[in-house]
Amino acid sequence: DWTTGNVIEEQVTAIRSLVGDKRAICGLSGGVDSAVAAALVARAIGDQLTCVYVDHGLMRKGETEQVEKDFVAATGVKLVVVDAEERFLTALKGVSDPEEKRKIIGREFIRVFEQAQAEIIADEGPAVEFLVQGTLYPDVVESGGGTGTANIKSHHNVGGLPEDLEFKLIEPLRKLFKDEVRMVGQELGLPDEIVQRQPFPGPGLGIRIVGEVTKERLDLLRDADAIAREELTAAGLDRDIWQCPVVLLADVRSVGVQGDGRTYGHPIVLRPVSSEDAMTADWSRLPYEVLAKISTRITNEVADVNRVVLDVTSKPPGTIEWE
Ligand code: XMP
Repeated sequence: DWTTGNVIEEQVTAIRSLVGDKRAICGLSGGVDSAVAAALVARAIGDQLTCVYVDHGLMRKGETEQVEKDFVAATGVKLVVVDAEERFLTALKGVSDPEEKRKIIGREFIRVFEQAQAEIIADEGPAVEFLVQGTLYPDVVESGGGTGTANIKSHHNVGGLPEDLEFKLIEPLRKLFKDEVRMVGQELGLPDEIVQRQPFPGPGLGIRIVGEVTKERLDLLRDADAIAREELTAAGLDRDIWQCPVVLLADVRSVGVQGDGRTYGHPIVLRPVSSEDAMTADWSRLPYEVLAKISTRITNEVADVNRVVLDVTSKPPGTIEWE
């Protein structure tokens, strides 16, 4: 019988006997899959697991804290946080091309992660032989199949591992679908903010700024995004939409009037979509009052933004993200 309890028990037993007295490491992305995989392995082998979280500075407001505090509180996991914001921003300096950004972020991510890994391996403890990955059943199918739109963009967390990888992989979610992973996570005591999290791209806000990525622009977008998320949650719409990217058109300016003067600011795009699997999507018909509230708040509260626009494009032809 399939129950979350059975899945957990089975995996815990299997992981324990596989790992023995060796150690494992796991990269946390802030997403559901890696969090649940890590929590499951932590349940099995406790502090023989070390988690690594690379803070690339491209996260949304509060997300790093969620991993640092809430996740650790719920699992008791041993966590190494690498603050790599400056490194990523330096690498991204002057870059506007979306694919270029993705490549840089993916490359830096692996470098920072490998360095943290090397430091963990170099300490006195037992050998680190295992790497935990939050691979789901659809990932297995998608990366093997290689059909359709999945290959249009280079997803840096799929197939981005070094070729001379010496770890043995532990993929405890390999047979599960997303909703099952959420149930397992819930059973493991993870907070809703992590378990019910909507999809968020690995390259983070780096691909939601059309134009060069800078600290100032990231801060601006973080503020706008936080407002949109707050209002969508307050309106009880989190479960109705798949996700709502908030995009900063950093290379665009338009004329506005705010207070008693002319402004020349940036537009923010709201991209709420409904979807089953992100392969196709429809733009969400959000209530006008909610859109109005978000628009008013963003233009009032976020300096340098004087216009909020709504993306009413399906996928296809538009992808969910703008880059
Ligand atoms: P697109 O923009 O291709 O997005 O319609 C489909 C889904 O994938 C997410 N996405 C990513 N997730 N790494 C990820 O982990 C990535 O590089 C990436 N690019 C897009 C996107 O948020 C949407 O849910």
